Amino acid sequence: MRHEPLIEPSTNKEKHVLKKLLTTLATASLALSALAACGDGGGDGSGDGKTVLGFAQVGAESAWRTANTTSIQESAAAAGIELKFSDAQQKQENQIKAIRSFIQQRVDVIAFSPIVETGWDTVLKEAKDAKIPVVLTDRAVDSADDSLYVTFLGSDFVEEGRRAANWLVEEYKDSDETVNIVELQGTTGSAPAIDRKTGFEEITSADPKFQTIASQAADFTRAKGKEVMQAFLSANKDIDVLYAHNDDMALGAIQAIEEAGLKPGEDIKIISVDGVKDAFVAMTEGKINVVVECNPLLGPQLMDVVAKIAAGQPTEKRILTEEGVFTMDQAAAELPNRKY
Ligand code: AHR
Repeated sequence: MRHEPLIEPSTNKEKHVLKKLLTTLATASLALSALAACGDGGGDGSGDGKTVLGFAQVGAESAWRTANTTSIQESAAAAGIELKFSDAQQKQENQIKAIRSFIQQRVDVIAFSPIVETGWDTVLKEAKDAKIPVVLTDRAVDSADDSLYVTFLGSDFVEEGRRAANWLVEEYKDSDETVNIVELQGTTGSAPAIDRKTGFEEITSADPKFQTIASQAADFTRAKGKEVMQAFLSANKDIDVLYAHNDDMALGAIQAIEEAGLKPGEDIKIISVDGVKDAFVAMTEGKINVVVECNPLLGPQLMDVVAKIAAGQPTEKRILTEEGVFTMDQAAAELPNRKY
């Protein structure tokens, strides 16, 4: 069917005005299509209206990390958020590449768990310039400019270090003898390694009987935990306590202690952080004395924050996770409740 024009131009002037009007309408329609594409879930062409979240994970170094990844993937699916997931394999440069790729893809929100604390300002500025909000999860960045991220969701690692030390102070409250401590640190330069050390030292330094005789990084992995503990054992004959910044390193160290003919949990008391199932099993076997909990199940809270940001709602600058401390005598009762 032919549509009759509403206005039939007859003069040259009328024809010129109509041509201009049509050009303006065509330009406006193009602009509207572009705007709609930006709001359809990151403008990545999916066009299904979902919020798109780019997540740059640290790696798969520990049971904690695996539980964290699963929590994020399952929660994104449950919340109807499209997740673009990248595993940086413990390398900062891979994480920076992933963030740049998310910026290029114009995702709606970027979240990441910074491998180390420093060196993020440039890429975070790029995200800010591209108007893509960034959420820090699990680990913080050390930056003077806190406008580079919207919020930080995760544990208080300094407090975790204090809790580990408080158990030690209580355990040795009736003794005046020197307590020789060895420390397995997490990844060098990472927030949990720096903060767990700081919190622990803040408490132990108040009493000179607590002596840290060796302290070394073991990358939050079992293999490295075992290797470094072997070195500690051959260099030091009178270790009383091992403070491991995570369960995987503690579990690796247990193997080294047993292979050296010693009893973990008795000859050498063990303080660990995280609270993964295997650590609870080790506590029921009397091999770990205390675990300071660090909760990896951040997915549901992260998706709430992402949904709020996508809806233009304000979020708190710091969202803390609630955690406890579990001793050997509580382990058997608590083990069936562990979710990671
Ligand atoms: O950032 C959290 C820490 O990273 C966990 O304690 C450790 O297990 C992980 O690798």
